[in-house]
Amino acid sequence: MSAAERVPNIALIGFMGAGKSSVGRDLGARKGMPFLDLDGIIEENEALPIAEIFAARGEPYFREIEGLLFRRLCEGVGQIIGCGGGTLIDPRNRAVLEARCFSVWLRASVPEILRRIESEAAPVRPLIRGADPRIVVPALLRAREGAYRGADLVIDTDGRSVEEISLAIRAALPFPFRGPP
Ligand code: S3P
Repeated sequence: MSAAERVPNIALIGFMGAGKSSVGRDLGARKGMPFLDLDGIIEENEALPIAEIFAARGEPYFREIEGLLFRRLCEGVGQIIGCGGGTLIDPRNRAVLEARCFSVWLRASVPEILRRIESEAAPVRPLIRGADPRIVVPALLRAREGAYRGADLVIDTDGRSVEEISLAIRAALPFPFRGPP
């Protein structure tokens, strides 16, 4: 069995604002692999923006549907999966990630994350809404870094364009992944 058969998907992990969606789309186009954006699919399924799901149904509900969807997507092959910043909080998700995905941590520094989050027009991040990002971001990042650190590949993203990051991932992949059969 080839490496691509054993570990059939690529997962992009990392904090909010790390660029998982834009890099995932670019990398998918370059590699001929579909990009599946976890948050985007949740929003479609629920017909609500993520912030509204948190507000109307609560974070535990969001985490439940996020985990169910992530683990189901991982059953597929030849896909690039863009995780949410909190997907790996759940150990069940970490186990499936490890078994089914080559994981890439898009690492960004706190100042870079703050810059990216603050440049967004709409308040799309429910965990930041109404709070001071300068306090919330470093605390959340510290709590999550352990899960991100286990990634198969770490790519620093500070000051780099989507294209540069995507090409760096491509160059560092240990074997040629394939799209779905
Ligand atoms: C979250 C990150 C968000 C989204 C939700 C919760 C988190 O995804 O899943 O708002 O817990 O860090 P992005 O990392 O794509 O912003």
